[in-house]
Amino acid sequence: MKEDNELIGKYSTESQILHGEFTTEKWDYSHHIIPPISCSASYRLDSVERGALGFEDFARPSQIEHAPIYVYDRLDEPTRSMLETRLAKVESGEVGVCFATGMAAISAVFGVCLRTGDRVTGHTTLYGCTFSLFENWFPRMGLGVDLVDMRDLDKLRDAIRPETKTVYFESPANPTLELIDIAGVRTVLDEINADRDESDRVRMVIDNTFATPFCQRPIEIGCDIVLHSLTKNIGGFGTDMGGVVVTSSELEGDLLLYRKDFGGAMSPKVGWQILTYGLPTLPIRVRHQTRSAYKIAEYLENNPKVARVNYPGLESFVQADLARKQMLDFDGDFAPGNMIYFELASDKREDAVSFLNWIGKNSYALTLAVSLGQLRTLVESPTNMTHFVVSDEAKEKSEMSPTGIRMSVGIERAADIIADMESAFESI
Ligand SMILES: Cc1ncc(COP(=O)(O)O)c(C=O)c1O
Repeated sequence: MKEDNELIGKYSTESQILHGEFTTEKWDYSHHIIPPISCSASYRLDSVERGALGFEDFARPSQIEHAPIYVYDRLDEPTRSMLETRLAKVESGEVGVCFATGMAAISAVFGVCLRTGDRVTGHTTLYGCTFSLFENWFPRMGLGVDLVDMRDLDKLRDAIRPETKTVYFESPANPTLELIDIAGVRTVLDEINADRDESDRVRMVIDNTFATPFCQRPIEIGCDIVLHSLTKNIGGFGTDMGGVVVTSSELEGDLLLYRKDFGGAMSPKVGWQILTYGLPTLPIRVRHQTRSAYKIAEYLENNPKVARVNYPGLESFVQADLARKQMLDFDGDFAPGNMIYFELASDKREDAVSFLNWIGKNSYALTLAVSLGQLRTLVESPTNMTHFVVSDEAKEKSEMSPTGIRMSVGIERAADIIADMESAFESI
């Protein structure tokens, strides 16, 4: 029975991301509990012909019918490859390609989807380094960007030009947690693509890092490409950096080629950690974090020192209906995730700074730090930290307030987090 991958389908996704498949094209799992780790920059070849075939296979990954031939880590590698198979499955895609960081995955997506002269239509609220990629590097590469509020699908439709090849967004968006209607964007792109050649079609790309595949699987709703910073909740423990692109097999060859030539490959040791510790524990971590996030968001909502709380789980969340439509866990239950954004009632930037400084110096259950999706609850000020380099105009368009605070809820007891928040509020 264990040899038969067909039978695995009757088990829940949650069990499958722990056990994986018993046999794969990549490795024999059936005699391991913990997946094997490989640490080999290059691989022993018993003939020049085998080496030649390895390179030939690399150029046509979807057509290989024999066991994989590994030649050199940067091309392909068994441990990372097992993680890729599992991430593709969890995100309902055909293939996954892992990179050294989330930014390397984002760069790879643009690298394979765009040619000089092409444009991207993006949502106005994005992670700071994605903004930086658009502002600092796109002009040098002859690529253009049009940022529009994609919550309004008419604005999206109007922004797409003949040169536009990619529509790019995060949902929930970093840091303000705005949502984009994935099915709605699909409808707009289907209308536009109906008049385009297959090779010219606009692709929909989502950075699904904030949601994680536990809370949202965008390919099932119509996205073409899903990417993640694995440094966050999929890695889960804050020990390693990584990124992944999940998509259809059509782009696999180009993504592997991009990784081979630009070189941002994930270390197999990191791949093994995420495969062994991060991904299998994602559901239990996010479920726990989400339960706490509800309590913390409600506490913040009732706090007179807070002007606005954005948490997709709150009934007051402006896009609550959309959240309930597209943020669903593996069982189809509503899964609003572990990220909260709130703004202080004070409009003074200094109050947010002293609130966070107080936390930095005095809190135990709250940690002043960038990044997210770790075991510890992390808080930061987007306008002063992660999104500091974003222009004031872009900050305004993305509705980021100088007193806005981003919180990634961890696995501490919710009451401890709230007690530390209470003390921090008393300090301002
Ligand atoms: C939404 C989002 N995407 C991408 C990244 C980049 O990931 P990495 O730091 O792994 O390059 C981040 C980092 O914070 C992020 O928040």
